[in-house]
Amino acid sequence: MIETIKFNLNRKPTQLTVDGERSLLWVLRSDLGLTGTKYGCGKGICGACTVLISNKAMRSCQVLVKEIKGKEVITIEGLVRNGKLHPLQKAFMDHDALQCGFCTPGMILNAYSLLLEKPQPTEAEIIEGMNDNLCRCGAHVRIVQAIQSAAQGMRGGRKG
Ligand code: FES
Ligand code: FES
Repeated sequence: MIETIKFNLNRKPTQLTVDGERSLLWVLRSDLGLTGTKYGCGKGICGACTVLISNKAMRSCQVLVKEIKGKEVITIEGLVRNGKLHPLQKAFMDHDALQCGFCTPGMILNAYSLLLEKPQPTEAEIIEGMNDNLCRCGAHVRIVQAIQSAAQGMRGGRKG
């Protein structure tokens, strides 16, 4: 059904007139040009399409666009504030925590959600919290290091 959907996207009020049964992933990518949100499996398995919905990491391929009415959606593009990378984005670069980069937006947004819940996670908690985001390039060790480093750097208050 075509309907009007109002929500906040990357902190800006947004209004769309779309078929509410479409997946949020394809509305973000095709209608709004936010291609940082990646299509991997389309089945909720890989985590490449992860976005934040009301600060919780969600798989956008499994979310219907009608379900985001009135909510706050943050994509990887929205983590940059005033032209500055978020500490997690910077830590991923500093630790070379990627190879092809396809999983990276989903990894960073999942890590963001994890650090909101546990600002100073142990290594085991990071591994467990990131376990369902897949990286075909095998960058997991460096990803964990990057998240540890970002968490340490953000100690004393969330920056971003
Ligand atoms: S594309 Fe959504 S979980 Fe893989
Ligand atoms: S860096 Fe290539 S899939 Fe993770």
